[in-house]
Amino acid sequence: MEGASSSLLDAEAVADLVLLDPLAEESLVQTLQERFRRRDIYTYIGNVVISVNPYQSLPIYTPEKVEEYRNCSFFAVNPHIYAIADDAYRSLRDRDRDQCILITGESGAGKTEASKLVMSYVAAVSSKGEEVNKVKEQLLQSNPVLEAFGNAKTVRNDNSSRFGKYMDIEFDFKGEPLGGVISNYLLEKSRIVRHVKGERNFHIFYQLLAGASPQLLQQLKLRQDCGHYGYLSREGSNLPGMDDAANFHAMQDAMRVIGFSPAEVTELLQVTAVVLKLGNVQLSSSFQASGMEACSITEPRELREICELIGLEPGALERALCSRTVKARDETVLTTLSVPQGYYGRDALAKNIYSRLFDWLVNRINASIQVKSDKQRKVMGVLDIYGFEIFQDNSFEQFIINYCNEKLQQIFILMTLKEEQEEYVREGIQWTPVEFFDNSIICNLIENSTTGILAMLDEECLRPGVVNEDTFLTKLNQLLATHKHYESKETQNARRVTDTSLPPRCFRIHHYAGKVTYNVSGFIEKNNDLLFRDLSQAMWAARHALLRSLFPEGDPQKVSLKLPPTAGSQFKSSVAMLMKNLYSKNPNYIRCIKPNDTKAAMVFTPELVLAQVRYLGLMENVRVRRAGYAFRQPYGPFLQRYKMLNARTWPRWHGGDRQGAEVLLAGLVFPAEELAFGRTKIFIRSPRTLFDLERRRQERVAQLATLIQKTFRGWRCRTQYQLMRKSQILISAWFRGHRQKNRYKQMKRSALILQAYARGWKARRTYRKYFRSNASACLANFIYRRLVQRYLVGLAKNLPPLSVTDRTWPPAPYRFLSDANQELRNIFYHWKCKKYRDQLPASRRAQLQARLCASELFKDKKTLYPKSLQQPFRGEYLGLKQNPKYQKLHAVAKDKLVMADAVRKVNRANGKTVPRLLLLTTEHLVLADPKAAQPKTVLSLSDIRGVSVTRFSDGFLALHLKEVSTVGAKGDFLLVSDHLIELVTRLHQTLEATTGQALPLHITDRFSTRFPKGDVSITVVESPKAGTNGPVCKKKGSNKMEVLVH
Ligand SMILES: Nc1ncnc2c1ncn2[C@@H]1O[C@H](COP(=O)(O)OP(=O)(O)OP(=O)(O)O)[C@@H](O)[C@H]1O
Ligand SMILES: [Mg+2]
Repeated sequence: MEGASSSLLDAEAVADLVLLDPLAEESLVQTLQERFRRRDIYTYIGNVVISVNPYQSLPIYTPEKVEEYRNCSFFAVNPHIYAIADDAYRSLRDRDRDQCILITGESGAGKTEASKLVMSYVAAVSSKGEEVNKVKEQLLQSNPVLEAFGNAKTVRNDNSSRFGKYMDIEFDFKGEPLGGVISNYLLEKSRIVRHVKGERNFHIFYQLLAGASPQLLQQLKLRQDCGHYGYLSREGSNLPGMDDAANFHAMQDAMRVIGFSPAEVTELLQVTAVVLKLGNVQLSSSFQASGMEACSITEPRELREICELIGLEPGALERALCSRTVKARDETVLTTLSVPQGYYGRDALAKNIYSRLFDWLVNRINASIQVKSDKQRKVMGVLDIYGFEIFQDNSFEQFIINYCNEKLQQIFILMTLKEEQEEYVREGIQWTPVEFFDNSIICNLIENSTTGILAMLDEECLRPGVVNEDTFLTKLNQLLATHKHYESKETQNARRVTDTSLPPRCFRIHHYAGKVTYNVSGFIEKNNDLLFRDLSQAMWAARHALLRSLFPEGDPQKVSLKLPPTAGSQFKSSVAMLMKNLYSKNPNYIRCIKPNDTKAAMVFTPELVLAQVRYLGLMENVRVRRAGYAFRQPYGPFLQRYKMLNARTWPRWHGGDRQGAEVLLAGLVFPAEELAFGRTKIFIRSPRTLFDLERRRQERVAQLATLIQKTFRGWRCRTQYQLMRKSQILISAWFRGHRQKNRYKQMKRSALILQAYARGWKARRTYRKYFRSNASACLANFIYRRLVQRYLVGLAKNLPPLSVTDRTWPPAPYRFLSDANQELRNIFYHWKCKKYRDQLPASRRAQLQARLCASELFKDKKTLYPKSLQQPFRGEYLGLKQNPKYQKLHAVAKDKLVMADAVRKVNRANGKTVPRLLLLTTEHLVLADPKAAQPKTVLSLSDIRGVSVTRFSDGFLALHLKEVSTVGAKGDFLLVSDHLIELVTRLHQTLEATTGQALPLHITDRFSTRFPKGDVSITVVESPKAGTNGPVCKKKGSNKMEVLVH
């Protein structure tokens, strides 16, 4: 910004020529030169951008630059094409005004580059998104495709546009590109067949040959060598700094992006190849049988290949090229053509195919980029048309091109000079008119519908009879003899002017940009643009779908005798439409200047620039601009836009718009000369004032935005807070309620419990008399008792049998009765036993007692015991009463006899046994000799110390006596008894009964006995040797005895 404002004030190189001082042509050119030297190639005249071609790439188109100019204020930044693009884009987006960007200048001045820069800037600053990016890419990629087919090297420009292009870019209300429409104007198709030395044909041919793969070339039946093709210049096919092969690939990529299918690309290239190959179809003359000269194809190969490419029978094409069908009085006659006529037809065919192919290409691109939706659109048109041209030899094409440029200049003059001045007068602003050259007269000279050159050309073309360029020129000379801007050899002669630079068969027009001499040769032919019907029919007959579609008039069904409109009239009407379109939009001008004729980088030729400055009318432009006002706007929109700058007009002004604007500006204190109040519009003189106004507005808008934001945020926070508060109150109310409810429930529960206790307590106290204090215990007792009672009654009813051997007993019905049940069971058993015992007789009882005693003494201790159970204890085995032999012994025993039995006594000396009678009384133990029946030994029971027996089933026993007794002195007795168990048992019982002491009984395998001769140790040995009669005692030495038992 600083740079901009400083350069605005830099006297040597002012950025806006309106500030130039002094204002003269020289100073203007000098300023441009100085700026150019500083590499500032852009300069303003108000809002018109002047661009001087640097012929060198400068680092001023970087993404950073785009950012710098994005949303910039037009007059606050260094002049740049981006600034005007930004201004136009924002005006379109924000003020809803359709825009057009008019780029003018002579050939090579940089129009095409400027248009691309505008497009790329708009693409860069408009919003991004997948769909939008695709649209942008397609719009941008249309350039390389159209340039390949529509641009060519000329002497003035290596990449000269040979067609006019107007592109409408369409946006939605947000400023997002939606698509576009391209219109093309008159392609310079004569270039297909001819171009001057040092120029080239259209780029596509060179690109195709350089960039296509060998397979593609083979498919298209082409050779890589440019020199092979008659339509391509034989010299200088390669251009320095232009890589045809790379451009070809870029073009193919671009077609892919736009949406061409591979088949479409192939068809397109096939038709291109056909055009190229047509140039190689050679004709020669031959004589027919009738003696007439006729042309024929010299080299049929090329023709055959063309026919293979387009799917046509070679004979058909040959016929169409070499002959012509003429209709005369309902008869069709086939006439042969001469060789020049044949070549004319061939070239016309090539030109027609190519120009129609170009139209198809534009339509095909439009089909891809056109807006599909019905959304409301805003339009930005970018016009890049061929520049004003003055060649050595200027023909119909230059005439048309220059006419178009003349029209554009007219728009410029109308919109910036004439219209502006007229507006001041209309609006009642004090105004001193500025003189300028109005080129309407030249436009009229060309386009006037009756006396215009184009009209006359058409007339000549349509006129029956001999028609040629000479008659056309004569007519012009007659009609325009006095026209200031027209001259020819004839008019000069009439005025007696000698000018060698004007040859015959030429006319000269004084264009706004200079005098151009046009050679009339070819005017009629080019204007007619006729193609022999045989050729169009042949093309229509081809099987190649694309080629066929280019020649709809070739359909024999649709034969029309009406002549097609001439090229000139077509162009005139399309230019008229274009002008109408441009007038409907807000114009933005980029005026391109070519600094030198040699395409040299950074070379500035003042004379050349001065000529352009003159014909572009830049001086007048500056003058009008200086005298006039930079900005104007109806009061209404102005007030609407700036009303926030004054407290009286903000937010609403209730008076008229003009008063509102006056009040508004009065408050802003601008110098009086800066403002003028027209009838319907406010005028602001300098851009700076407007800039200042805009800056203030921006500041104010920012303030207002802050205010709105503040208010809105406040409101939002407040409502949010209130909402939160309400919610919080609601939540806490619910929560408190819930908590209180819980607490109440708990309290109620507690109160109920307390009440229940209290009431219980009270009730118990009140009604205690009705209750026994230990009612429960009583009840329990009662229940227990009932249970016990039932149990006992049941038991009584169900008592087990009284047999003492039966130990069965019913189980306890309840666990608490199990102990009692067990006890009862024992009691019952004891009682059963007692009862059993009580009913026994005394003898039986004594017997059982003896048995019991025997069991206690021997059970499980001596093997003999179980055997003894079978034997009843009889006691008296001898029959003392009955046997008189034993009377004596009976007397000894008297009534005290306990047991009488026969035993054997072991001899202590040798172990042999002798029989003895043994009597046991309640006081004594008597051993008697059986024969004599005399007691041999009488022992007092108290002398018995103990008894030893073996473990086995023998009847051996040792009777140990006390030493102190008289009998004891004789030592212990060893006896063998058949009733050992009974004997020992009775001895025991008797001893217990008499002495009250138990008999010490030893059941052992080894014991010692006391014999008179000393102690003898007795060892009991179990042996089968022992006889059945009893044990066998063997004396072993003096003090050992072995008793063998079994
Ligand atoms: N801004 C620029 N920066 C660098 N080089 C430029 C610039 N503008 C133009 N040129 C150079 O000038 C050459 C001619 O420019 P361009 O093709 O835009 O001219 P033109 O006005 O369209 O001419 P024509 O009327 O013949 O189509 C370009 O090929 C390029 O080399
Ligand atoms: Mg161009």
